[in-house]
Amino acid sequence: MEFQTGHKGREAEIIDLFTTAFTASEGEEEGALIGELARNLLGSTDEKDRAVFTAEDDGTIIGAIVFSRLTYEQDERTVFVLAPVAVATDQQGKGIGQRLLTHGLTSLRSAGVDIVVTYGDPNYYARVGFLPVSEAEARAPFPLNHPEGWMAQSLTERVMAPLKGPSRCVQALNHSAFW
Ligand SMILES: CC(C)(COP(=O)(O)OP(=O)(O)OC[C@H]1O[C@@H](n2cnc3c(N)ncnc32)[C@H](O)[C@@H]1OP(=O)(O)O)[C@@H](O)C(=O)NCCC(=O)NCCS
Repeated sequence: MEFQTGHKGREAEIIDLFTTAFTASEGEEEGALIGELARNLLGSTDEKDRAVFTAEDDGTIIGAIVFSRLTYEQDERTVFVLAPVAVATDQQGKGIGQRLLTHGLTSLRSAGVDIVVTYGDPNYYARVGFLPVSEAEARAPFPLNHPEGWMAQSLTERVMAPLKGPSRCVQALNHSAFW
């Protein structure tokens, strides 16, 4: 297995991976929603506001993660949000997700990102260093339907102090359905 950064020329494969993995785990409606999210993140998000990492095996993409910028105008730190994450259904449970996440987080750290937040299953994301965070410590762009899934980690040596002020996500995530 090897990791790749970026997605050039592989958009359709990545979108299909997200659609298929989320359809299998959450149903067709969620699969279509996350597939569309991936399409917008890859297609209409400024490159400086997005980072895509894939895991490949024999030329086939078997895992993909996308990070996008979360802007806190009143805070000087650089923050990205991780969403979505998927591993091909027939490849799950082999540690690929965790290795890909660790790879992506390491790359963002090298690129100077200070904090990464995510929104999902706390039991899973705790495995790669995320800790629960309150909406007072890091305001989400929309009210959260599942605040217990809001998590963050500092990529620097500094402990994460609360992020100041409201936040703004990229256009692709700017819909209450994702929050
Ligand atoms: C979630 C997902 C990315 C994990 O990838 P993976 O490569 O299968 O995960 P890993 O092999 O790295 O880790 C597997 C471990 O995480 C656990 N795990 C997997 N999905 C989990 C979840 N949603 N919540 C909690 N634990 C989870 C497994 O039980 C397994 O535990 P074990 O090591 O004790 O047996 C993958 O299952 C997937 O694509 N799911 C569908 C899409 C999805 O739900 N994505 C968002 C997740 S919040």
